[in-house]
Amino acid sequence: KQTDTPALTIIFGATGDLAKRKLFPSLYNLFKKGEISNHFACVGVARRQWTEQQFRNHVRESVIAAIHSNEQMEEFLSHFYYQSLDVTNTEAYIELLQLANQLNTKYHLNGNRMFYLAMAPEFFGTIAEHLKRDGLTDTNGFSRLVIEKPFGHDLQSAKALNEKIRTAFRESEIFRIDHYLGKEMVQNIEAIRFANALFEPLWNSRYISNVQITTSETLGVEERGRYYEKNGALRDMVQNHVLQMVALLAMEPPIKLTTDEIRSEKVKVLRAMRRIEGQNIQHFFVRGQYGAGKINQEQQISYREEHNVDPESDTETFVAGKILIDNFRWAGVPFYIRTGKRLAKKSTKIVIQFKDIPMNLYYQTDQPLTPNLLVIHIQPDEGITLYLNAKRVGPYLDRTPVKLSFSNNRFNGINTPEAYEKLLYDALRGDATNFTHWDEVALSWNFIDAISHHWAETTEKFPNYEAGSMGPKQADQLLEQDGFFWWPIDYLDVDECK
Ligand code: BG6
Repeated sequence: KQTDTPALTIIFGATGDLAKRKLFPSLYNLFKKGEISNHFACVGVARRQWTEQQFRNHVRESVIAAIHSNEQMEEFLSHFYYQSLDVTNTEAYIELLQLANQLNTKYHLNGNRMFYLAMAPEFFGTIAEHLKRDGLTDTNGFSRLVIEKPFGHDLQSAKALNEKIRTAFRESEIFRIDHYLGKEMVQNIEAIRFANALFEPLWNSRYISNVQITTSETLGVEERGRYYEKNGALRDMVQNHVLQMVALLAMEPPIKLTTDEIRSEKVKVLRAMRRIEGQNIQHFFVRGQYGAGKINQEQQISYREEHNVDPESDTETFVAGKILIDNFRWAGVPFYIRTGKRLAKKSTKIVIQFKDIPMNLYYQTDQPLTPNLLVIHIQPDEGITLYLNAKRVGPYLDRTPVKLSFSNNRFNGINTPEAYEKLLYDALRGDATNFTHWDEVALSWNFIDAISHHWAETTEKFPNYEAGSMGPKQADQLLEQDGFFWWPIDYLDVDECK
């Protein structure tokens, strides 16, 4: 399956963290697999005055752990070029165009160009405008723009940004990255739902009592204090990754598995999400900020003590919410979500909790039956577990939960490719299914803005959770008010399935 789409990849922000940690290793993996080979070249663009050799050394360092053979590495590196560029300087774009033209001839790239903006979003508009004005998008092949989040700060700024990039690229040429959509098990949601006879008939308010999505991280804000202060967990995680997972879980089966059909179903979910306003918000969304505490025996400082964070910061590092989807399928079924920094464990899981059976015949044992659960383990373990009730072995009357489980880690024995590798590969081939369309971005912001506007006008007593916990107690109350609780992450861990 060698696609080897000829293309020149131009990475803006090539000396930055994302390029080093994700993009170069992903390109190298694609190269090793033969998915990109002779007809590929990459130009790194950044402000620093680096030579081509310095840049190649930098690329080598970033993939060093994955080097297969030195010869292959040298071959890979020979496809890398560098252009120093100040994003507002026209002359530099003209030089970049000349380089792009030379490489096009040298590698037979058919005029195909993919511009990857791996840098601060305040420059997206300027770069897009220059790419058009200085002739880089004027090519006889394809011209695509791949951009990282954040895509705006709210609906208004997202619209302004979109208008700017639309002056240079059509919607079909814009690939907005949401790296969660590149994760193996997020992509698997579709297969679980639409390739099995078992679940889809039950996938509605008649059989499902609630859905729980947890994305917990042990990391704090690291070196990103400045970015995080302006965004917080709601914008950083919920507006994009979490709502995308909600959309994939809740959408109707598309009539075909094509980009447009899937998108249009996701858009309908985002449109059906109940927008919560004013005082009512506190019953639906809660926020938290971590104080000091211990994770795996290690003492952690509070958020307010982090580098580049205001000592009186009101930025939330945790969000829990209850989302209602007002359509025929989901009426009355809460989708609970939570995400946060410095929590007890790094884990992303989705729990589908089924309704209780109509009559419990096992009450004589004095134990209520555990509801059936379908758990989708997104990371770090990848798998699916179905919780059923079975008879306890021996002369007992009681029933005990048992697990049917599938784990990518254990059964495949292969590392699933990194999200970025898959997404780069898709963008090169022009498959936009796992990227977010403007309509999805706009609807997500519309939902989020109501919450963030309310939060901007009200205060919360921060810090309100300890590092190493699972967030503030209000997050538990959110479910308790409906008679539910968060299924503990440890209980659900796929590793424990035997
Ligand atoms: C990013 C956020 O989009 O996702 C980060 O900006 C967060 O704050 C990260 O840490 C989480 O991604 P993953 O793949 O580690 O779950």
